[in-house]
Amino acid sequence: MVRHVIAPVEELPPGTRKFLTIDERPIAIFNIKGEFFGLLNRCPHQGAALCEGPLIGLAQSSDPGEIEYTKLGEIIRCPWHGWEFDIRTGQSYCDPRRFRARAYPVNVEPGSAVVKGPYVAETLAVSVESDYVVVDL
Ligand code: FES
Repeated sequence: MVRHVIAPVEELPPGTRKFLTIDERPIAIFNIKGEFFGLLNRCPHQGAALCEGPLIGLAQSSDPGEIEYTKLGEIIRCPWHGWEFDIRTGQSYCDPRRFRARAYPVNVEPGSAVVKGPYVAETLAVSVESDYVVVDL
């Protein structure tokens, strides 16, 4: 498993997403209410750029006429055919037994643990105060 430093936390505020390619895989990193999640930007249905779809919530109903809207901003709707996936897990809500979006673990690590080398001067003390978003592949 190789760690990939994505960006300082400040570059990905809550509700935003960042697209990138790692090892030739298109990936999007999401900040959902301060938590970070990674998804392969390829829909398991027919290959659309899944992560370019809108963020929505999950409509659930226990009785006719009773609709509860949960997981606001945690579900992504594929821009091609509208299938919905949980950003936290990749779970499909259309066909959960056959389809799942590929999810990647994303962590936040202190800048002092990931920024090395050219940012450390030999004769001057240098400190890094930001935390960084890191994905393990
Ligand atoms: S390609 Fe995503 S729902 Fe069809």
